[in-house]
Amino acid sequence: MQDKINQYLAEVEAFSASGNQDTENFRIKFLGRKGLLNDLFEEFKTISPDQKKVMGQELNKLKNAVQQKIDSLQQSTGPVKSSQEGMDLTRPTGAVPYGSRHPLSIVRGEILDIFSRIGFTVADGPEIEDDWHVFSGLNFPPEHPARDMQDTFFIRKKGDNGEDEMVLRTHTSSVQVRAMENQKPPIRIVMPGRVYRNEAVSARAHCQFHQIEGLYIDEGVSFADMKQTLLYFTQEFFGKAKIRLRPSYFPFTEPSAEMDVYWGLQTEADYRITKGTGWLEIMGCGMVDPAVLSASGIDPQKYSGFAFGMGIERITMLRYQIDDLRMFFENDVRFLKQFS
Ligand code: DAH
Repeated sequence: MQDKINQYLAEVEAFSASGNQDTENFRIKFLGRKGLLNDLFEEFKTISPDQKKVMGQELNKLKNAVQQKIDSLQQSTGPVKSSQEGMDLTRPTGAVPYGSRHPLSIVRGEILDIFSRIGFTVADGPEIEDDWHVFSGLNFPPEHPARDMQDTFFIRKKGDNGEDEMVLRTHTSSVQVRAMENQKPPIRIVMPGRVYRNEAVSARAHCQFHQIEGLYIDEGVSFADMKQTLLYFTQEFFGKAKIRLRPSYFPFTEPSAEMDVYWGLQTEADYRITKGTGWLEIMGCGMVDPAVLSASGIDPQKYSGFAFGMGIERITMLRYQIDDLRMFFENDVRFLKQFS
């Protein structure tokens, strides 16, 4: 055993490395799990106790010599970076692909931007709402069909202690009511958000979609103000010059109207999407019903206002010629990346 140790000591002494891979091989040869030192320590277990004292010292001498050799070699050749060897860490990576904005976000942003230029700010409210903000505060009679099970997702029944029924909001008009309760006129806001209706999913209908609601209340706001505001929006967003207001009915506005945009009949597609009329229905609107104002604590003698509401999906489909509503909710990257 002494002979072997002497021989190894000489070998360690004489060893020189030309690169850090040499140093690593040397380390493995002596200190590795199946290395020479482990062999010697195994042998050490078998020798007589009086020999152990001397041999123990000799073994430690060898071990220290090996370790010192490795330390000094690593100082000159650098530590071993076996897995990184040959790798240039300063090289630039390949291009990281950008994500893209969802078409609904793009269109929502554009609409908010258009209204912000004429002084509208953005407001929002909860998607899980009580009956008051979705229906009663908006003048919906108790037996109005919009409250029907076919349309509304009910979350909680009317409580025994008088807690209001909770629903998933069926329109963003609920945010109007919150705004009127919490702010004093003048109020000039747009309210984007997600709404829910209990409908079967198809290319034309979905159980969730998005709306933008608008509300303007001040002293002396007139139907003419509404008309001009909606015309401005149409010109900015669609680049179309003509709108018309058709009489309609909503419980929360009086008078109420549907706003149509004159799309034109230039192309075959124009005929198809306007069903040959040239006109496209874009939103509902009207003068806020005095009963709605007073229900939210605004004096209808002093103030008047208009409101409007439109579906974001519908106008996004027009803008990008998308013909299936489900595309918006499937998150198919092949669809989404077309909008980057
Ligand atoms: N809330 C209506 C809907 O979901 C849209 C609407 C119509 C909103 C007229 C309004 C309005 O503010 O004045 O169909």
